[in-house]
Amino acid sequence: MEKENDGDREPGTGDRSPANPETHTKSGPVTAPEVAASKGRRRLVMVTATDEPSGRLADQAGVDVVLVGDSLAMAALGRPDTLSVTMDEMVHHTRAVAAGVRRALLVADMPFGSYQVSVAEAVRNACRLVAEGGARAVKLEGAREQETAAIVHAGVPVVAHLGLTPQAFHRLGGYRVQARDVDDAVALVAQAEALAAAGAFLLVLEAIPAPVAAAVTRRLVIPTIGIGAGASCDGQVLVWADLLGLSAGPAPRFVRRYADLGSAATDAVAAFAADVRAGRYPGEGESYPTPPGLADALAARLREE
Ligand code: KIV
Repeated sequence: MEKENDGDREPGTGDRSPANPETHTKSGPVTAPEVAASKGRRRLVMVTATDEPSGRLADQAGVDVVLVGDSLAMAALGRPDTLSVTMDEMVHHTRAVAAGVRRALLVADMPFGSYQVSVAEAVRNACRLVAEGGARAVKLEGAREQETAAIVHAGVPVVAHLGLTPQAFHRLGGYRVQARDVDDAVALVAQAEALAAAGAFLLVLEAIPAPVAAAVTRRLVIPTIGIGAGASCDGQVLVWADLLGLSAGPAPRFVRRYADLGSAATDAVAAFAADVRAGRYPGEGESYPTPPGLADALAARLREE
């Protein structure tokens, strides 16, 4: 991955270089206040998950935060964008991921349409993701200070998300890097400060120039998590399918593939198919032991009939 603006880091926040990768070592569940308090002490790791296996494996890998992102629309449901994901689908996937996550903080995305209509509806839907899905925080896109304050007031920690907000795809005119001029960058910094003041405990910054993310990270008391926002954020997030080489099509610039599970899966299934077709599967050790005398007795009985 590109190392953008590595020197632009908040002074006095301690050595967070890869040579000093302090991780979350406590065995109990990671809480939202702990994540908020980690600012300047260690880099946060967030990864998305869509079901029990991905939640369990991410949790076992020791990430701080597991996000049931609405990117599951593309990563798990084969849809072209995130806009069609419903609350029921988010609750369904969040419950599945929750079944696998023991330690990491489980955050669920509020899908398009679930918080834009009214503050009351935003609170109701955030509560559903907690009560029915098992999330311990929710994430919503955009400068939603009122909704953030109301959801936090209801007792649900909020992760904010600025920069490229994919639910605003049509308004933005596509998946474009945001805050590319100084006015937009200043506006984004102000929005970030307002969201932190409204009670958000964490801020995702997506697809913005690294110096803008660095400025936001320096000015906020809450941690930032970058995705396509350079190396100066307080942590980084990647989508499960991108990180593991499970997604189809070209990956965005910021994606680093840490495995090629897509090829491994295709190769494994092709090997299974070849074994079945050649009569090599199942072998004797892959069949249940036959009780003594059964085969002969069966053959004799069938001859009689
Ligand atoms: O839905 C998602 O996966 C996200 C991440 C990109 C932060 O919002």
